[in-house]
Amino acid sequence: MKKIKIIGGNSLNGEIAISGMKNAAMPIIYACLLVKGDCYIDNLPDIRDVRICLEIIENMGAKVERLNESSVKINCDGAVGGSAPSELVSKIRASYYLLGAELGRFGKTKVTLPGGCNFGSRPIDQHLKGFRALGAVMDASSDEYVVGEAPDGLHSANIFFDLVSVGATINAILAAACIEGTTIIDNAAREPHIVDLANFLNTCGADIRGAGTETIKINGKKELRGCSYTIIPDMIEAGTYLIAAAATKGCIKITNVIPKHLESTVAKLEEMGVKIIEEGESVIADGREVVLKPVAIKTRPYPGFPTDMHPQFGTLLSIASGESTVIEGIYEKRFKYADELARMGARITVQNERASFKGIARLHGATVRATDLRAGAAVVLAGLCADGVTYIEDVHIIERGYDDIVGKLKNVGADIEYIDC
Ligand code: EPU
Repeated sequence: MKKIKIIGGNSLNGEIAISGMKNAAMPIIYACLLVKGDCYIDNLPDIRDVRICLEIIENMGAKVERLNESSVKINCDGAVGGSAPSELVSKIRASYYLLGAELGRFGKTKVTLPGGCNFGSRPIDQHLKGFRALGAVMDASSDEYVVGEAPDGLHSANIFFDLVSVGATINAILAAACIEGTTIIDNAAREPHIVDLANFLNTCGADIRGAGTETIKINGKKELRGCSYTIIPDMIEAGTYLIAAAATKGCIKITNVIPKHLESTVAKLEEMGVKIIEEGESVIADGREVVLKPVAIKTRPYPGFPTDMHPQFGTLLSIASGESTVIEGIYEKRFKYADELARMGARITVQNERASFKGIARLHGATVRATDLRAGAAVVLAGLCADGVTYIEDVHIIERGYDDIVGKLKNVGADIEYIDC
């Protein structure tokens, strides 16, 4: 079994180039289904979930040509709706974007239920609400498939979401981009990856306005044409390495980032005493000689503090002085990392959606698991700053979303390697 072995205690110093954003790359790959001709996508992260997305559309009849490790040419002219292989679709959460993309392209859809990290129930009622508003008849009663069809064709509509959902917003954009007339999405999610999807589609000829605000207006365009597009940097990968600097009392410069996307993460690090310097498209986190202060965090939809940074901060709060708290505002079961960190000495008490951390001076090495993607990042960070040796199991879960995490950390001085045992 492949594991990550870390001998902790090295202070990490140097530069890390940030890869493209996972959660932008996947909807953009599925959005290619709406587009005629060749799409050249650059800054694609080389991660497992993205490889699966590419395999899915290839199995649907798209032509996918790898130009290099971060660029791909996609042509979906020959894609067939409803043909995505179940065994691949069920591996990743983002497969639900096939619902919107297939409805938009073929007027009907049949998609196996999506997989992804288990944070408790992850309903898709808002996705269905959006599709139904656009005229689709959706059936999600099966345990295996979601099926949808627009017998009289899709039509533009006003969609008001009951809650802010990244996935439902993206799906509504995908379904509506090519519908004649004007579709308005209200109470939309505002994450940078939603803006990135809209920018990609607009570069293909769509007319989508207001992405990044709570109201998105889509003037449907019948035909979209291939383009060249560069995916935005991954703000969660970036935040993870800023924490690596803080946790190991080192100094790391992350490059190829959009500092604006990191504001809430950076603000918390500064509140904890970490020195942050912004330099154009780079951010430096200097944790040398810093005594980490305790803080209170509440995760919220963007531009609030991201739930995808919660577990990594969990590691940092475990070694801060005093008592910190995290209130998880998005997923009720995002605390699985706490049991793993407890094996390394962390003192965390979880009650419902709230965790309290009593900071200790040092964690110690242990054998731990990546229970989900960001929880996996949290135990890697813990291993880096712990005394002794840490072994991490289920590393394929970390590889879902972190491009070459072992190589990148090694380059800044970590004693980290893959082992087979
Ligand atoms: N929700 C509903 N009904 C819906 C949709 C969502 O009740 O129809 C609830 C969810 O259960 C959750 C909240 O609304 O409590 C927000 O969920 P959202 O739909 O925004 O999340 P998602 O689209 O399923 C994406 C990312 C997650 C990230 C969240 C929040 C992808 C593939 N996934 O999930 O990323 O945590 O947004 O920002 O983009 C990760 O990268 O580690 C990850 C889990």
